[in-house]
Amino acid sequence: MLKGDEIIMNTKIVMIDSCNIDKKYIKEAADIIKKGGLVAFPTETVYGLGANALDSEAVKKIFQAKGRPQDNPLIVHVSDFDEIDPLVKEIPDIAHKLMNKFWPGPMTIIMKKSDIIPDVTSAGLDSIGIRMPSNKIAKEFIKECKLPIAAPSANISGRPSPTDVERCIEDLNGKIEYIIGGEKCDIGVESTVIDCTNYPACVLRPGGITLEMLKEIDSNIYIDPAIMKKPEKDFKPKAPGMKYRHYAPKAPVKIIQGDLQKTIEKINEMVQNYISENKVVGIMATDETKHKYTKGVVISVGTRKHMETVAQNLFETLRMFDDNNVDVILAEGFEFKGVGIAVMNRLNKSAGFNIIKL
Ligand code: TXA
Ligand code: MG
Repeated sequence: MLKGDEIIMNTKIVMIDSCNIDKKYIKEAADIIKKGGLVAFPTETVYGLGANALDSEAVKKIFQAKGRPQDNPLIVHVSDFDEIDPLVKEIPDIAHKLMNKFWPGPMTIIMKKSDIIPDVTSAGLDSIGIRMPSNKIAKEFIKECKLPIAAPSANISGRPSPTDVERCIEDLNGKIEYIIGGEKCDIGVESTVIDCTNYPACVLRPGGITLEMLKEIDSNIYIDPAIMKKPEKDFKPKAPGMKYRHYAPKAPVKIIQGDLQKTIEKINEMVQNYISENKVVGIMATDETKHKYTKGVVISVGTRKHMETVAQNLFETLRMFDDNNVDVILAEGFEFKGVGIAVMNRLNKSAGFNIIKL
């Protein structure tokens, strides 16, 4: 575990205690942003890779560092409500209600963008996603920048998003100027993205703010049905990011979905077959099932009793299978409810929708 600060391959890495934030580091990081540089920072969802959202040249560097497709728009982060007005044409009623309830927190609201948002930031769209994170370090950092901060997840494009500073360093060290380290991310999956440019509002990416929670504000809010299906060729989703293979470890992932007892039996049968082919198999199990597997690399992703733990550990678990150099990953499926919808959305995408339904 890192302590204090150090410079590795031209990237300055600093560790900040969120209970006692060292202003010196926050100022240093904000100065880099003001000069058009890149800073990775913790949020309650996943680590973000930030730049001045109003500076096209700075934003272009994000796309380069991540190897991100140019047509995938960035989310703009703010630290206070009065920073939103200049960024959007209008704030629809439903957006007001959602912000008042869930901000600061793991939710991104898509609205029509104002002219000060450069085209690179919105990837040519006429809308922009805005998010106000609740993580203390993120809030302090954005406030100190006095600028809206464009920030995608701080991973190389396609890889699972980083939920701790070590994974952030693994992907971005040497590619950016500064990494702020904080504690492990609370939520573990990226923010819920809600398109408020039309009524009713539509969830384009499920996350920690669940459909059930959103429906308490407006029962007409719905999840874009397209996002749970394998994208067809030439499919153009409303959130461009949802068409790419994402959250993918190096080894192929296969999801086994259905009755839990049958799932365990099927996985054990598949493990046996892979072992006879001399393959190293990773099994993404849960606290309730891990002792049912006796062969292969077995990692529990969390407990089925609290799906929040599964969300929190999901990306880290996928990366741990890479550390173990497995040839294939067999993952138990989860129910499509609550935060399980976000978990299954990420898992389906990491598996390229390779699902064995029982
Ligand atoms: O939790 C999060 O949202 C994290 C942290 C760092 O805040 N950020 C994040 O950003 O996940 P990124 O770039 O990895 O994912 C943004 C997603 C993409 O799927 C993108 O296509 C979609 O949001 N998106 C952004 N702006 C959009 C817009 N104007 N219209 C539709 N989709 C949009
Ligand atoms: Mg991402």
